[in-house]
Amino acid sequence: MPRTFKLGVLAAAVMAAAPAVQAYEAGDFIGRVGVATVDPDSSSSNLNSNALGEIDGAKVSVDSNSQLGLTASYMLTNQFAVGVLAATPFKHDINGDGAALGGTGKLAETKHLPPTITLQYFPMPSGSKLQPYVGAGVNYTNFFEEKTTQTLTDTYATLAPGVTSTDIELDDSFGLAAEIGFDYMITENVGINAAVWWIDIDTEATINAYAGNAVADTSTIDVDIDPWVYMVGVSYKF
Ligand code: NI
Repeated sequence: MPRTFKLGVLAAAVMAAAPAVQAYEAGDFIGRVGVATVDPDSSSSNLNSNALGEIDGAKVSVDSNSQLGLTASYMLTNQFAVGVLAATPFKHDINGDGAALGGTGKLAETKHLPPTITLQYFPMPSGSKLQPYVGAGVNYTNFFEEKTTQTLTDTYATLAPGVTSTDIELDDSFGLAAEIGFDYMITENVGINAAVWWIDIDTEATINAYAGNAVADTSTIDVDIDPWVYMVGVSYKF
């Protein structure tokens, strides 16, 4: 075959194949499912008690947890999308920390849902199989089913004799979130995904200590949870 003809056949073949690799265009919806881990980089203030004042070194830390993660991107243009992070409820232990409470173990637990909405930027051409992205946005974290442990009640009773039970409540958090991730498309519709978020989650915990049915003391502690969130999963482009 003449060289020009061969090139012409090749060009026609590439053009015929091109629509099959088109991806990530305005109006596309990409859904992802995987395992999401919330890994707090937590720090806290000292516990502040109405009855006892500030207790130096009475701090807490928050452990990590993994759940089913669900994310989605809706392409507003070929390069910008709205991203959503959702998951089944995360459950975290709140452990004693600092000079006064380090080593006491689990003092409380909480569940939370951290829905996060970001504006995402996909820099690659829409036909690329590899679609890295960065995003920035906001997080709303709702804490629920907070519980204290007997360890917390026992520890409290050593400081405030007569305390027989405790409960805890965590304020909801609203803060900034940033993310980086990628989809790698294996077929036109199915790919793999990995993503990392940093989320600013700050809360104030309020602990009530009871002597019988009467409130004996109320304490607060500010907790910066500020987790890294990791997810690995499967992407499906609708
Ligand atoms: Ni923070």
